[in-house]
Amino acid sequence: MELRLAALHWLAEPNHIAKSAGVIALAQANKEGAVGLEAEAVLAPLRPIPGRPPLPELVSHQFVPRRSMRTGEGRAALIHALAHIEFNAINLALDAIWRFPGMPREYYQNWLQVAAEEARHFNLLAAHLVTKGYAYGGFAAHNGLWDMAEKTRDDILARLALVPRTLEARGLDATPPLRAKLAQAGEMEAAEILDIILADEIGHVLIGNRWFNWVCDERCLDPVATYASLAETYQAPALRGPFNLDARRAAGFSESELSALVAGKCPVLCRPSILSRTSRNQTSSPDETQCNPGVEPMPPDSAIAASGLRTR
Ligand SMILES: [Fe+2]
Ligand SMILES: [Fe+2]
Repeated sequence: MELRLAALHWLAEPNHIAKSAGVIALAQANKEGAVGLEAEAVLAPLRPIPGRPPLPELVSHQFVPRRSMRTGEGRAALIHALAHIEFNAINLALDAIWRFPGMPREYYQNWLQVAAEEARHFNLLAAHLVTKGYAYGGFAAHNGLWDMAEKTRDDILARLALVPRTLEARGLDATPPLRAKLAQAGEMEAAEILDIILADEIGHVLIGNRWFNWVCDERCLDPVATYASLAETYQAPALRGPFNLDARRAAGFSESELSALVAGKCPVLCRPSILSRTSRNQTSSPDETQCNPGVEPMPPDSAIAASGLRTR
Protein backbone atom coordinates (compact mmCIF):
# COMPACT_ATOMS: atom_id res chain seq x y z
CA MET A 1 0.00 0.00 0.00
CA GLU A 2 1.30 3.46 -0.93
CA LEU A 3 0.28 6.43 1.20
CA ARG A 4 -0.48 9.09 -1.43
CA LEU A 5 -2.42 6.67 -3.65
CA ALA A 6 -4.36 5.49 -0.61
CA ALA A 7 -5.12 9.11 0.34
CA LEU A 8 -6.49 9.73 -3.15
CA HIS A 9 -8.54 6.55 -2.92
CA TRP A 10 -10.20 7.60 0.33
CA LEU A 11 -10.67 11.16 -0.89
CA ALA A 12 -12.71 9.80 -3.80
CA GLU A 13 -14.72 7.45 -1.56
CA PRO A 14 -18.30 8.77 -1.48
CA ASN A 15 -19.58 6.92 1.58
CA HIS A 16 -18.84 8.92 4.71
CA ILE A 17 -18.74 5.87 7.00
CA ALA A 18 -16.37 3.97 4.71
CA LYS A 19 -14.22 7.09 4.24
CA SER A 20 -13.72 7.81 7.94
CA ALA A 21 -13.12 4.13 8.77
CA GLY A 22 -10.70 3.78 5.84
CA VAL A 23 -8.67 6.82 6.86
CA ILE A 24 -8.38 5.66 10.48
CA ALA A 25 -7.31 2.19 9.29
CA LEU A 26 -4.76 3.77 6.92
CA ALA A 27 -3.22 5.75 9.78
CA GLN A 28 -3.04 2.60 11.89
CA ALA A 29 -1.42 0.61 9.06
CA ASN A 30 1.07 3.45 8.61
CA LYS A 31 1.96 3.30 12.31
CA GLU A 32 2.60 -0.42 11.90
CA GLY A 33 4.99 0.24 9.02
CA ALA A 34 2.72 -1.29 6.39
CA VAL A 35 2.44 1.82 4.19
CA GLY A 36 5.07 2.97 1.71
CA LEU A 37 5.58 6.45 0.28
CA GLU A 38 6.25 7.66 -3.25
CA ALA A 39 6.80 11.33 -2.48
CA GLU A 40 7.79 12.27 -6.05
CA ALA A 41 4.90 10.60 -7.89
CA VAL A 42 2.56 12.91 -9.81
CA LEU A 43 -0.93 11.50 -9.37
CA ALA A 44 -4.26 12.17 -11.05
CA PRO A 45 -7.71 11.23 -9.76
CA LEU A 46 -9.60 8.52 -11.67
CA ARG A 47 -12.87 9.24 -9.86
CA PRO A 48 -14.55 12.56 -9.00
CA ILE A 49 -13.11 14.27 -5.92
CA PRO A 50 -14.05 14.79 -3.26
CA GLY A 51 -16.27 11.73 -2.93
CA ARG A 52 -19.30 12.62 -0.85
CA PRO A 53 -22.65 10.97 -0.08
CA PRO A 54 -25.82 12.15 -1.90
CA LEU A 55 -26.83 13.96 1.30
CA PRO A 56 -26.38 16.50 2.79
CA GLU A 57 -27.73 18.72 0.06
CA LEU A 58 -25.11 21.40 -0.64
CA VAL A 59 -26.41 24.97 -0.84
CA SER A 60 -24.83 28.40 -0.89
CA HIS A 61 -23.94 29.41 2.68
CA GLN A 62 -26.53 32.20 2.73
CA PHE A 63 -29.23 29.57 2.17
CA VAL A 64 -28.25 27.43 5.16
CA PRO A 65 -31.20 28.19 7.46
CA ARG A 66 -30.53 29.80 10.83
CA ARG A 67 -32.07 27.91 13.69
CA SER A 68 -32.54 28.75 17.34
CA MET A 69 -30.26 27.12 19.90
CA ARG A 70 -33.33 26.97 22.14
CA THR A 71 -34.77 24.02 20.20
CA GLY A 72 -33.47 20.48 19.98
CA GLU A 73 -33.66 20.70 16.20
CA GLY A 74 -31.62 23.90 16.23
CA ARG A 75 -28.92 22.35 18.37
CA ALA A 76 -28.91 19.24 16.16
CA ALA A 77 -28.50 21.49 13.11
CA LEU A 78 -25.46 23.05 14.77
CA ILE A 79 -23.94 19.62 15.51
CA HIS A 80 -24.66 18.68 11.90
CA ALA A 81 -22.87 21.79 10.64
CA LEU A 82 -19.86 20.85 12.78
CA ALA A 83 -19.95 17.26 11.48
CA HIS A 84 -19.99 18.59 7.92
CA ILE A 85 -16.96 20.78 8.64
CA GLU A 86 -15.15 17.68 9.90
CA PHE A 87 -16.21 15.69 6.82
CA ASN A 88 -14.69 18.42 4.64
CA ALA A 89 -11.62 18.49 6.88
CA ILE A 90 -11.00 14.77 6.23
CA ASN A 91 -11.07 15.53 2.52
CA LEU A 92 -8.78 18.56 2.87
CA ALA A 93 -6.13 16.59 4.76
CA LEU A 94 -6.25 13.75 2.21
CA ASP A 95 -5.98 16.28 -0.61
CA ALA A 96 -2.86 17.77 1.00
CA ILE A 97 -1.27 14.31 0.80
CA TRP A 98 -1.94 13.16 -2.76
CA ARG A 99 -1.88 16.49 -4.57
CA PHE A 100 1.49 17.94 -3.67
CA PRO A 101 4.57 15.86 -4.57
CA GLY A 102 8.16 16.40 -3.55
CA MET A 103 7.67 17.18 0.11
CA PRO A 104 9.59 15.54 2.98
CA ARG A 105 8.25 12.28 4.43
CA GLU A 106 7.13 14.03 7.66
CA TYR A 107 4.84 16.33 5.67
CA TYR A 108 2.80 13.35 4.46
CA GLN A 109 2.91 11.68 7.89
CA ASN A 110 1.66 14.89 9.53
CA TRP A 111 -1.32 15.23 7.18
CA LEU A 112 -2.22 11.56 7.57
CA GLN A 113 -2.38 12.16 11.33
CA VAL A 114 -4.62 15.18 10.68
CA ALA A 115 -6.89 13.17 8.36
CA ALA A 116 -7.30 10.42 10.97
CA GLU A 117 -8.11 12.97 13.70
CA GLU A 118 -10.66 14.69 11.45
CA ALA A 119 -12.25 11.29 10.85
CA ARG A 120 -12.50 10.77 14.61
CA HIS A 121 -14.05 14.23 15.02
CA PHE A 122 -16.57 13.40 12.32
CA ASN A 123 -17.40 10.07 13.94
CA LEU A 124 -17.90 11.65 17.37
CA LEU A 125 -20.26 14.30 16.02
CA ALA A 126 -22.15 11.96 13.69
CA ALA A 127 -22.65 9.46 16.52
CA HIS A 128 -23.83 12.26 18.82
CA LEU A 129 -26.34 13.35 16.19
CA VAL A 130 -27.79 9.84 16.16
CA THR A 131 -28.36 9.99 19.93
CA LYS A 132 -30.43 13.11 19.27
CA GLY A 133 -32.58 11.35 16.66
CA TYR A 134 -30.84 12.82 13.60
CA ALA A 135 -28.17 11.68 11.17
CA TYR A 136 -25.44 13.16 8.99
CA GLY A 137 -27.14 14.27 5.79
CA GLY A 138 -30.33 15.36 7.54
CA PHE A 139 -29.73 19.10 7.12
CA ALA A 140 -28.53 21.24 4.22
CA ALA A 141 -24.88 22.25 4.30
CA HIS A 142 -22.52 24.52 2.40
CA ASN A 143 -19.25 23.76 0.72
CA GLY A 144 -17.10 26.72 1.74
CA LEU A 145 -14.16 24.69 3.01
CA TRP A 146 -13.80 22.63 -0.13
CA ASP A 147 -14.21 25.76 -2.28
CA MET A 148 -10.98 27.04 -0.72
CA ALA A 149 -9.28 23.74 -1.54
CA GLU A 150 -10.30 24.21 -5.18
CA LYS A 151 -9.01 27.78 -5.27
CA THR A 152 -5.62 26.77 -3.86
CA ARG A 153 -5.13 23.49 -5.70
CA ASP A 154 -2.20 24.72 -7.81
CA ASP A 155 0.08 25.95 -5.04
CA ILE A 156 0.95 24.21 -1.80
CA LEU A 157 1.97 27.52 -0.22
CA ALA A 158 -1.45 29.05 -0.94
CA ARG A 159 -3.14 25.90 0.38
CA LEU A 160 -1.20 26.01 3.64
CA ALA A 161 -1.79 29.74 4.05
CA LEU A 162 -5.50 29.68 3.35
CA VAL A 163 -6.68 26.38 4.80
CA PRO A 164 -4.85 25.50 8.03
CA ARG A 165 -3.48 28.99 8.80
CA THR A 166 -6.73 30.81 8.00
CA LEU A 167 -9.81 28.60 8.07
CA GLU A 168 -8.69 26.08 10.68
CA ALA A 169 -7.12 28.84 12.77
CA ARG A 170 -10.42 30.69 12.73
CA GLY A 171 -11.97 27.54 14.16
CA LEU A 172 -9.67 27.99 17.17
CA ASP A 173 -11.29 31.38 17.78
CA ALA A 174 -14.84 30.21 17.13
CA THR A 175 -14.86 27.05 19.23
CA PRO A 176 -14.79 28.44 22.83
CA PRO A 177 -17.87 30.69 22.41
CA LEU A 178 -19.62 27.87 20.61
CA ARG A 179 -18.78 25.46 23.40
CA ALA A 180 -20.15 27.96 25.92
CA LYS A 181 -23.43 28.19 24.02
CA LEU A 182 -23.79 24.42 23.93
CA ALA A 183 -22.98 24.08 27.63
CA GLN A 184 -25.43 26.86 28.45
CA ALA A 185 -28.10 24.92 26.54
CA GLY A 186 -27.31 21.81 28.62
CA GLU A 187 -25.53 20.02 25.76
CA MET A 188 -22.62 18.86 27.90
CA GLU A 189 -21.78 15.85 25.75
CA ALA A 190 -21.47 18.05 22.67
CA ALA A 191 -19.41 20.55 24.68
CA GLU A 192 -17.01 17.77 25.67
CA ILE A 193 -16.65 16.72 22.02
CA LEU A 194 -15.69 20.31 21.22
CA ASP A 195 -12.99 20.13 23.92
CA ILE A 196 -11.45 17.14 22.13
CA ILE A 197 -11.73 18.86 18.76
CA LEU A 198 -10.15 22.12 19.96
CA ALA A 199 -7.16 20.29 21.47
CA ASP A 200 -6.58 18.40 18.20
CA GLU A 201 -7.15 21.45 15.99
CA ILE A 202 -4.33 23.32 17.73
CA GLY A 203 -2.10 20.52 16.45
CA HIS A 204 -3.50 20.85 12.93
CA VAL A 205 -2.79 24.56 12.77
CA LEU A 206 0.66 23.88 14.22
CA ILE A 207 1.28 21.45 11.35
CA GLY A 208 0.00 24.07 8.91
CA ASN A 209 2.36 26.66 10.37
CA ARG A 210 5.27 24.22 10.32
CA TRP A 211 4.92 23.47 6.62
CA PHE A 212 3.97 27.00 5.57
CA ASN A 213 7.20 28.26 7.16
CA TRP A 214 9.14 25.36 5.65
CA VAL A 215 7.95 26.15 2.10
CA CYS A 216 8.58 29.88 2.66
CA ASP A 217 12.12 28.96 3.70
CA GLU A 218 12.60 26.80 0.60
CA ARG A 219 11.42 29.64 -1.64
CA CYS A 220 13.31 32.37 0.28
CA LEU A 221 10.09 34.18 1.13
CA ASP A 222 9.21 36.19 4.21
CA PRO A 223 6.29 34.35 5.89
CA VAL A 224 4.39 37.44 7.08
CA ALA A 225 4.52 39.35 3.82
CA THR A 226 3.88 36.18 1.83
CA TYR A 227 0.79 35.37 3.88
CA ALA A 228 -0.50 38.90 3.29
CA SER A 229 0.03 38.55 -0.42
CA LEU A 230 -1.65 35.15 -0.62
CA ALA A 231 -4.56 36.27 1.54
CA GLU A 232 -5.13 39.13 -0.89
CA THR A 233 -4.76 36.98 -4.00
CA TYR A 234 -7.08 34.23 -2.76
CA GLN A 235 -9.52 36.58 -1.03
CA ALA A 236 -9.10 35.13 2.43
CA PRO A 237 -11.82 36.02 4.88
CA ALA A 238 -10.61 38.95 6.99
CA LEU A 239 -9.13 37.94 10.33
CA ARG A 240 -11.06 39.76 13.04
CA GLY A 241 -11.29 39.23 16.77
CA PRO A 242 -11.94 38.10 19.34
CA PHE A 243 -9.00 35.74 18.95
CA ASN A 244 -8.13 32.68 20.99
CA LEU A 245 -4.59 33.87 21.59
CA ASP A 246 -3.57 30.98 23.84
CA ALA A 247 -4.64 28.46 21.21
CA ARG A 248 -3.04 30.45 18.39
CA ARG A 249 0.19 30.74 20.36
CA ALA A 250 0.18 26.99 21.01
CA ALA A 251 -0.49 26.50 17.29
CA GLY A 252 2.73 28.23 16.34
CA PHE A 253 1.76 31.77 15.42
CA SER A 254 4.57 34.17 16.29
CA GLU A 255 4.25 36.87 18.93
CA SER A 256 4.54 39.53 16.24
CA GLU A 257 1.64 37.94 14.33
CA LEU A 258 -0.45 37.79 17.52
CA SER A 259 0.41 41.37 18.46
CA ALA A 260 -0.62 42.52 15.02
CA LEU A 261 -3.95 40.70 15.37
CA VAL A 262 -4.67 42.19 18.79
CA ALA A 263 -3.70 45.66 17.66
CA GLY A 264 -6.15 45.45 14.79
CA LYS A 265 -3.31 45.15 12.34
CA CYS A 266 -3.48 42.07 10.24
CA PRO A 267 -1.76 40.97 7.06
CA VAL A 268 -5.02 40.32 5.25
CA LEU A 269 -6.07 43.93 5.26
CA CYS A 270 -2.70 45.59 4.89
CA ARG A 271 -2.01 48.27 2.40
CA PRO A 272 -0.70 47.13 -0.98
CA SER A 273 2.77 48.51 -0.18
CA ILE A 274 3.50 45.53 2.06
CA LEU A 275 1.92 42.99 -0.23
CA SER A 276 4.75 43.13 -2.72
CA ARG A 277 7.47 42.78 -0.06
CA THR A 278 8.59 39.21 -0.01
CA SER A 279 12.30 39.36 0.77
CA ARG A 280 13.23 37.88 4.16
CA ASN A 281 15.63 40.79 4.63
CA GLN A 282 12.93 43.40 4.48
CA THR A 283 11.00 44.39 7.55
CA SER A 284 7.89 46.50 7.70
CA SER A 285 7.36 49.54 9.84
CA PRO A 286 4.28 49.67 12.07
CA ASP A 287 2.76 52.20 9.74
CA GLU A 288 3.02 49.85 6.79
CA THR A 289 1.06 47.11 8.55
CA GLN A 290 -1.83 49.37 9.53
CA CYS A 291 -5.17 47.75 8.76
CA ASN A 292 -8.12 49.35 7.16
CA PRO A 293 -9.45 51.46 10.06
CA GLY A 294 -13.01 51.18 8.78
CA VAL A 295 -13.29 47.50 9.67
CA GLU A 296 -15.17 46.84 12.90
CA PRO A 297 -14.06 44.05 15.27
CA MET A 298 -16.13 40.93 14.89
CA PRO A 299 -18.29 39.94 17.90
CA PRO A 300 -18.20 36.30 19.02
CA ASP A 301 -21.48 35.40 17.30
CA SER A 302 -20.15 36.76 14.04
CA ALA A 303 -16.98 34.74 14.43
CA ILE A 304 -19.08 31.62 14.74
CA ALA A 305 -21.16 32.58 11.72
CA ALA A 306 -18.03 33.33 9.73
CA SER A 307 -16.67 29.89 10.52
CA GLY A 308 -19.66 28.51 8.65
CA LEU A 309 -21.79 27.86 11.71
CA ARG A 310 -25.09 29.44 12.48
CA THR A 311 -26.40 29.36 15.97
CA ARG A 312 -29.63 31.31 15.74
FE1 LIG B 1 -11.45 18.59 13.08
FE1 LIG C 1 -8.45 20.18 11.66
